[in-house]
Amino acid sequence: MRLRRNPLAKPYLQESHLVIQEPEQLRGKWQTIFPKPQPLYVELGTGKGQFLAKASTLHPDINWIGVERIEEPLLHAVRKGETTENTNIRYLWLDVSKLTEVFDCGEVQRLFLHFSDPWPKKRHAKRRLTYRSFLQIYKYILAPDGDLILKTDSNSLFDFSLEEFKEMGWKILEQSLDLHQSPYQTENITTEYEEKFSSRGMPIYYVRVQPAKTNSDLPCYLSD
Ligand SMILES: C[S@@+](CC[C@H](N)C(=O)[O-])C[C@H]1O[C@@H](n2cnc3c(N)ncnc32)[C@H](O)[C@@H]1O
Repeated sequence: MRLRRNPLAKPYLQESHLVIQEPEQLRGKWQTIFPKPQPLYVELGTGKGQFLAKASTLHPDINWIGVERIEEPLLHAVRKGETTENTNIRYLWLDVSKLTEVFDCGEVQRLFLHFSDPWPKKRHAKRRLTYRSFLQIYKYILAPDGDLILKTDSNSLFDFSLEEFKEMGWKILEQSLDLHQSPYQTENITTEYEEKFSSRGMPIYYVRVQPAKTNSDLPCYLSD
C-alpha cells in the first residue's frame, strides 16, 4: 500500500541525524560512524521500519542499516528509530540498485529482504529484488561468510527467488514454508507486513542463503 505524499518527509529526512546524507563518502568506512565496530546488518526495503527498531534494541552487538527508496515510509522508520535512542542504527534513502556505490566489497555481514514487492507480471521480473542482477550486487557487498535472509508471503516470489539462487550458485542454509511454525521462529523478528499477512492466516515463506564465492571474484576474495 502506497502512503499518501507528505511534503514534510523530505526536509525531515535531510535533517535527521540517523539518515546518512552522502553515503557514498562512507564506502569502506561504515564502522567509523558507529560507536563500536560490529557486524553490519542491512535491511533492504525497510518500509515503516518496525523490524529495524526492534532488531537494533534486541541486538546491540550489531550495527543496523535500513535502506528505503520512498521517503514517506522511511519517515515512519526513522521516527521509530529515533524513539529507540539506539546508537547502532542508521537509515539510507537509497535505491537498492545503488548499493555498490555505498558499500565496499565484503563490507556487509547480513542482508534482509522482507516482503519485497513481488512484481507478479513476467515482464517485470527484472524488478524483483532477487533477480540475478541484484544477487550479483549482494554477492559483492557481502562478507565471505555473509548471508541473506528472505521472508515473503508471496508463493510466486519465493519460487522465483529459489530458482534465481540456484541458477547463481547460492547455497540454501535454512528454509521453511511456514516460518512461524518452524524452529527458526525463535529468532524471528516480525515486520509490519509480516504481522498483516500472518494475522490473515497466511504462511510466511523463509530462506537463508549464502553466495558461492570463488577465485573469479578476485580481487575481493583471495580464496574459494
Ligand atoms: C512491501 S514493502 C515491505 C516493507 C517492510 N520490509 C515490511 O516487511 O513491512 C516493500 C518496501 O520496499 C521498498 N523498495 C522496493 N524496491 C526498492 C528498491 N529498489 N530500493 C529500496 N527500497 C525498495 C518499497 O518502497 C517498500 O517500502
